[in-house]
Amino acid sequence: MCGIVGYIGDKQAYPILIKGLQRLEYRGYDSAGIALLNKQTVLYKQKGKVSDLEAHISGRTTDGTIGIGHTRWATHGEPNNVNAHPHSSFNNKFIVIHNGIIENYSMLKTKLIKRGYKFSSETDTEVLANLIEFIYLTGKVTAELAVRLALSKVVGAYGLVVMCKDEPDKLIAARKGSPLVIGVGQGEYFIASDATPIVEYTKSVIYLNDDDVAVIKKDELKLKTIDNEDLTPKIQELDLDIGEIDKMGFDHFMLKEIYEQPKAISDTFRGRVRKDHSDIHLGGLHEVWDDLEKARRIIIIACGTSWHAGLVGEYLFEEFARVPVEVEYSSEFRYRKPIIFSDDVVIAISQSGETADTLAAIRIAKEAGAKVLGICNVVGASIPRETDAGVYTHAGPEIGVASTKAFTAQVTVLTMMALKLANKKNKISDDKFSSLINELTLIPEKIEIALKANKEIERIAALYKDSTNALYLGRGFLFPVALEGALKLKEISYIHAEGYPAAEMKHGPIALIDEQMPIIIAATKDSSYEKIVSNIQEVKARKGIVIAVVTEGDETIKGMADHVIEVPEAPEHLAPLLTVIPLQLLSYHVAVMRGCNVDQPRNLAKSVTVE
Ligand code: G6P
Repeated sequence: MCGIVGYIGDKQAYPILIKGLQRLEYRGYDSAGIALLNKQTVLYKQKGKVSDLEAHISGRTTDGTIGIGHTRWATHGEPNNVNAHPHSSFNNKFIVIHNGIIENYSMLKTKLIKRGYKFSSETDTEVLANLIEFIYLTGKVTAELAVRLALSKVVGAYGLVVMCKDEPDKLIAARKGSPLVIGVGQGEYFIASDATPIVEYTKSVIYLNDDDVAVIKKDELKLKTIDNEDLTPKIQELDLDIGEIDKMGFDHFMLKEIYEQPKAISDTFRGRVRKDHSDIHLGGLHEVWDDLEKARRIIIIACGTSWHAGLVGEYLFEEFARVPVEVEYSSEFRYRKPIIFSDDVVIAISQSGETADTLAAIRIAKEAGAKVLGICNVVGASIPRETDAGVYTHAGPEIGVASTKAFTAQVTVLTMMALKLANKKNKISDDKFSSLINELTLIPEKIEIALKANKEIERIAALYKDSTNALYLGRGFLFPVALEGALKLKEISYIHAEGYPAAEMKHGPIALIDEQMPIIIAATKDSSYEKIVSNIQEVKARKGIVIAVVTEGDETIKGMADHVIEVPEAPEHLAPLLTVIPLQLLSYHVAVMRGCNVDQPRNLAKSVTVE
């Protein structure tokens, strides 16, 4: 949520900053800005995309070897040129970019106004810039001390970078709640919200922790706490390739990521599944299997698509390991005073590892004494650092805002965890365990086959792209897939869509069905197949249009539905990994045909670091 980039060194900063903003644009894209520190400091801001900013700057001066840039996802104040970052302080001493929310900004603003400060924007960030400047001027202190003192008065979350015109040899970066990574080069440093703008320049990075303040000159970095205690920076090697953050010939990141799923899933179980399929090794859980075996209950916390993966997890853990599971939206869990036992195990699922509500929910669970595990995609993010143990999905960077490969990788991890736990608890025999592992390893090639329906799905999308509503139905393991399919469609094509358990249709959604309404039904052969066939008949009896995702060779549903999309046969607990693929493709094609911005849908952000 909001992208931050900064550079200090001997190179021209502008090309690095603008490219960095393009890489970060998936985090927020309602306005963008860049400031360059030079004899004549320049500050450019523009409502809209980074390309609009680039057009606005074209032909103007961009000299400077120190600079900062920001791409915004609005919290305080509508997206416009004034509210865009960077923000200058009232007397123009400081320029600030910020990600997060300053919760006490209104009180601070009132105090500053009383001291004669005037504000041009509605943002909390301008308050921060002015607070730093006020302390700097009245206290006659260094920029670094002014930043640290200002931050000690702030309630809320921030990842920020500050430039001071009087001290033009440094950038000051600080973090609390919003991620910042510093790339360490030869006589140069890069700062960013995540590593994607940094990876093409250096693989040596420092992840800032909460309450860290970094004072960065081109050939020196000092790291301290907000209370001025010195810290030793821990330089880590980045495990990211530049190829992973390019579209590689695809029209959109989302499509590339849909097609990457066979690889993402293989990478997620590679090295973890024994070659003879006799065991699963999840190194990150080594210390906590005991807790899992003894768990009174598993609570899964997550948001968005990760929450849907969590629902599949519930079905998996309960069916195989026979342990009760609750799946909670992090935002509800954190505020609703949940009962958490110390022998509960909490599993937080998050692609980004930065979702603010999930982080807060983790802290609540830890306080209650529960073991907290993480399933995350972004290595080194806040959630894996705050949880007691965990498993990384190895899906690679996911740039499209609509999550696809992260979902299937999360379900893969949950499947491995549930099967291993079931085997440890003697709920499934070694032979069954091994045959279930074998089935899981066949999924990547089955997804390759499912992807071959792309052209047919595109043809179906063309028929229904102008729909105003859509209903997604599924039963059992396919109910979460119905929810996920509906979410994909509304996220990127702005068509109203709802996901329902197929049997619940009779308790409301059936009233919506008419000859205009596409009803997408995940109906592969499983234990509730006969029942879903009846549901399809109920829809057809009301003249609804049925698009069914079926098992290869299913003639029964073919005879009833308006369209069928086939996926290979698989055991029912693995069907989500296959049936979700056509639903992702359907949403993708509908969105493209409607002229929507697939990778950057309106109002959404990839990483939601505010609650
Ligand atoms: C945002 C993204 C979704 C994602 C959700 C949870 O809404 O747009 O794609 O599912 O956040 O994010 P997380 O990183 O915690 O999985």
